[in-house]
Amino acid sequence: MTILTPTNNTTSANSGVPDEAALNRMASEFFALVPGAAQAAAQFLPGFSQSNTPEAPPSARTPVHDSSSIQSQPSVSASGVPQNGGSSVAPSRPQAGGASSRTPYYFVGQEHGYPVADNNLDNLARQGTGAGTGKQTEKTSFASPGQDQLQRILGELYPATAAPVQQSGGSASQPAYYFQQGEQDYWDQAPRAANPSLAAPFDINAVRRDFPILAERVNGKQLVWFDNAATTQKPQSVIDRISYFYAHENSNVHRAAHELAARASDAYESARKKVARFLGAASEQEIIFVRGATEAINLVAQTFGKKFIGAGDEIIVSQLEHHANIVPWQQLAAEKGAVIRVIPVDDSGQVLLDEYRKLLNSKTRLVAVTQVSNALGTIAPVHEITALAHAAGARVLIDGAQAVSHLRVNMQALDADFYVFSGHKVFGPTGIGVVYGKKALLEQLPPWQGGGNMIADVTFEHTRYQPAPARFEAGTGNIADAVGLGAAIEYVERIGLENIALYEHALLEYATHGLKSIPGVRLIGTAHQKASVASFVLAGYETTEVGKALNDEGIAVRSGHHCAQPILRRFGVEATVRPSFAFYNTCEEIDRLLAVVRRLANNRK
Ligand code: ALA
Repeated sequence: MTILTPTNNTTSANSGVPDEAALNRMASEFFALVPGAAQAAAQFLPGFSQSNTPEAPPSARTPVHDSSSIQSQPSVSASGVPQNGGSSVAPSRPQAGGASSRTPYYFVGQEHGYPVADNNLDNLARQGTGAGTGKQTEKTSFASPGQDQLQRILGELYPATAAPVQQSGGSASQPAYYFQQGEQDYWDQAPRAANPSLAAPFDINAVRRDFPILAERVNGKQLVWFDNAATTQKPQSVIDRISYFYAHENSNVHRAAHELAARASDAYESARKKVARFLGAASEQEIIFVRGATEAINLVAQTFGKKFIGAGDEIIVSQLEHHANIVPWQQLAAEKGAVIRVIPVDDSGQVLLDEYRKLLNSKTRLVAVTQVSNALGTIAPVHEITALAHAAGARVLIDGAQAVSHLRVNMQALDADFYVFSGHKVFGPTGIGVVYGKKALLEQLPPWQGGGNMIADVTFEHTRYQPAPARFEAGTGNIADAVGLGAAIEYVERIGLENIALYEHALLEYATHGLKSIPGVRLIGTAHQKASVASFVLAGYETTEVGKALNDEGIAVRSGHHCAQPILRRFGVEATVRPSFAFYNTCEEIDRLLAVVRRLANNRK
């Protein structure tokens, strides 16, 4: 059995892990960005200099387009963004249906619709911050939690930061960081001084301005988008890139000798290269574009599954899975007579590796597990899971839908046979997703859907197919959104996955501590390794009631079963309230959420 662990504390370009000096520099930069923190930081950061106030990384300020395919960049304000961040065009609203208590929100009344109670939408929109108009005035500085707040945060989260820094990692009291390299946190090995403050390691205000929808107002309040596990918001660069495609490049791909076909093909294939680089794939031929992670898993089930899984064979999934990584395997198993086995989780929501080991045997054909649970936020030990599966002769599919926006992933290190994700969860458009498959394996697989694009030659008697990836991309794909996904990947790469992970971890810690302090709150999912998600229930309230109360304050969360009923039932609940964070969220926003939950708790029925 091979367990992949970090070999030391030094950076390697391959591992993408910052070295100690880089961590110290980052920590210095974080503290320097927080007013009043420099003095505190100087106590425990060797070499910290108060005059060493850094510039925010240029990447966080000015995400730009793919210069290889755009000659003239459209300006943000000239790109057609509505003056009020999109809400100046009031959508036609459904009638209230006569019931004043009836909610139009699907998470309350199972209906879709616009807010019927909001007769003031245009007026609210006029109060917006005017993103995209060039007249933005930020009333709140999100990067500046003041001295009191900072000290409270540091005191609560990292009590030892007031004391001299311990250089050794792995102490029981040390907060764990959620990135993983193999089975061990590499952050556990980092100097304690590298623990983040809650200041972003990038210019948070500039980042927020990159997302025009964050200036939207909901029920008279500035929108707080905490539904990132359902979908993420899109930076202006992605919106502009898609616009640019339709204005200057639109054509079908691979099929004509004209200029626009060449532009569109270049843009599409350039996006494929960006995805390959993002995942650390060996080649862009290992990247198949699909609609999303759900379609991606179905593709693997219908190609790999049909060919390699037969009667009596076994497929292992974990108890954490989203329905999208359960149902396609159930359908295949029913068709083939195969058996599904489930890795249980412990009471924190982490998979039990010892139980997993017991499930592996010579009949195991595939292990299909999520990297990050959408309902709990658990980060599963996918490196170990993959290594153990391979040692047992099984193939591995990792569902990365909830992982790629929070963690750096690398296919060479992970060694998964298939890896899937959705573009819309990583700040890209909906309707585009990815299957990564090892080239040698893809070459053995039959096509999935038949049609144009995937063929080399067709007669009425016989068809020869293209090699991967075209073999799996029948028909006209979602070209523009693939290009948009490429722009989204460039955006997150400019901010840096390590920066994102560090900042989001601090947000999650902050939210977790805040929620835990509220009587009646029960956190669902408390694994040591978590990303982004703070699922909870509140005694005395339906989750829909909490969701509605938050929405009344302009805060968007998902409440419900999150398409992951088995794992919620493991914890004895049918639904949770699920705030889920992204790098554009702030502690001030979390404070707004905590205030609502606290108020509900105090007024408990
Ligand atoms: N899978 C998405 C979620 O977790 C829709 O909300």
